[in-house]
Amino acid sequence: MISLPRFRPFGSHVALAIALWSCASAAWADDTGRALYHGHAADAPPARIAGVERFGLTCAGCHGRNAAGGGEGRSLVPPIDGATLASPSPKRPAYDAAAFRAAVSQGRTGDGRMLSLAMPRFDLSQTQSDALWKYLGGITDEDRSGVSADQIQIAVPAITANLVDARHLRDELERQWAARGANSIHGRSIVFKVVAIDAPVSDKNANPSEFFLALGANIDIDGSMLDKLQRSGLPMLGPRGALSDKTSEEIISVRANRDQVTDALFRLDNPTTTIVIDAALRAKRAPPPQAIGPEDAMPADSRRIVLMVDAPQARAFIKTNQAALKGRTVVLPFDELAGYPDLIEQLLNQGTDVLAARPAGDFSDITAYASALTAVLEASLVTAGRQLTRTRFLEAVKGVQVQSPHWPELDYRRFPKNGTELVEFVRVTPR
Ligand code: HEC
Repeated sequence: MISLPRFRPFGSHVALAIALWSCASAAWADDTGRALYHGHAADAPPARIAGVERFGLTCAGCHGRNAAGGGEGRSLVPPIDGATLASPSPKRPAYDAAAFRAAVSQGRTGDGRMLSLAMPRFDLSQTQSDALWKYLGGITDEDRSGVSADQIQIAVPAITANLVDARHLRDELERQWAARGANSIHGRSIVFKVVAIDAPVSDKNANPSEFFLALGANIDIDGSMLDKLQRSGLPMLGPRGALSDKTSEEIISVRANRDQVTDALFRLDNPTTTIVIDAALRAKRAPPPQAIGPEDAMPADSRRIVLMVDAPQARAFIKTNQAALKGRTVVLPFDELAGYPDLIEQLLNQGTDVLAARPAGDFSDITAYASALTAVLEASLVTAGRQLTRTRFLEAVKGVQVQSPHWPELDYRRFPKNGTELVEFVRVTPR
């Protein structure tokens, strides 16, 4: 028998959880102003430029998630956080709620100037405009929520039906955070807290504004809870799981997909490593030039073989190269292990080292999952600096590189879409 790394199913209460969610009382309430600002509001008026409707334009998209403004094309986008709008500038008088509505709906500032067409017009109702105005008044605080002079509060989201798994993840995060020796980052310690996101808002713990970030598990399959989290403004690092295309950049996957596992295996290619692929993969992906086929003999000087073929081809290859594989390393995708357990066992018994590659942060293995989360968290917090905000953190995550004892072989990097995605290598041991 071979012994695979320990698995603990996470999210086994998923069906129950979703049923409970749909009848739960109002939880983390949707703030109308925040929904309008980020483009989540169902009844938001369309953006109009010179009277023509434009879709997909959100305040956050141009003015930034923290309303700090920035460069958008050739025109500069001004900051529109509450404090900035409420004070006069050389270009315009101070805004109040009424002047704000006139600017956003008609493009007219308090002294009668017309804003350029780079600022679309939005025909907001009085209620919507007031909600947005109120939201902008607190947007800077929201961006810093969960951060104090000496502490960062991190939520581990759960549903009441599944607190046990969330507590398990929290314990593991605490253990690994302590083991990393990174107890304080820029003078702040980290506190991980389990938060039931389906608890009533009156529950002190259920208030997203007390937290900086969520580190989460695959808490639902249809994405409705991730959606809730996203609407609450709490960014999250989590597994790919239910992430859909409509998930904003604020929900960041730390879990690689199958193609990225293949990429990671291809990157192992070097003069002492041989990649074995079949015709199908060769046709689909550009393999390293030295790759050989499953019917070939392995080069005499090869120390390491990367097997990317199906089970029958692997059988054939191992049979042909049985003797040469003694004392060498075989690396293969984790998913393929189940295909030929007898052969893997034989390899192990004859002294071949077997490594399996899989997405890091596989939430079915809490240890590996927490390891990926804490590695990304630490690197991103260090990069984000002492002036920590959610916006700075999210920017930092995109460029982060991490190293961990769980994945010694490669230099991991961020991938462009939705953040950091890592592949880890696990050693398969004889039982
Ligand atoms: C396509 C990009 C874009 C979008 C979308 C956008 N804005 Fe603007 N906004 C701008 C630009 C550019 C300016 C500066 C215009 C000028 O000064 O003539 C501006 C100016 C403003 C101003 C005036 C600021 C000042 O200092 O006078 C306010 C208020 C404002 N925007 C609010 C909003 C709100 C609220 C939304 C969402 C409902 C929004 N904007 C969406 C680009 C955008």
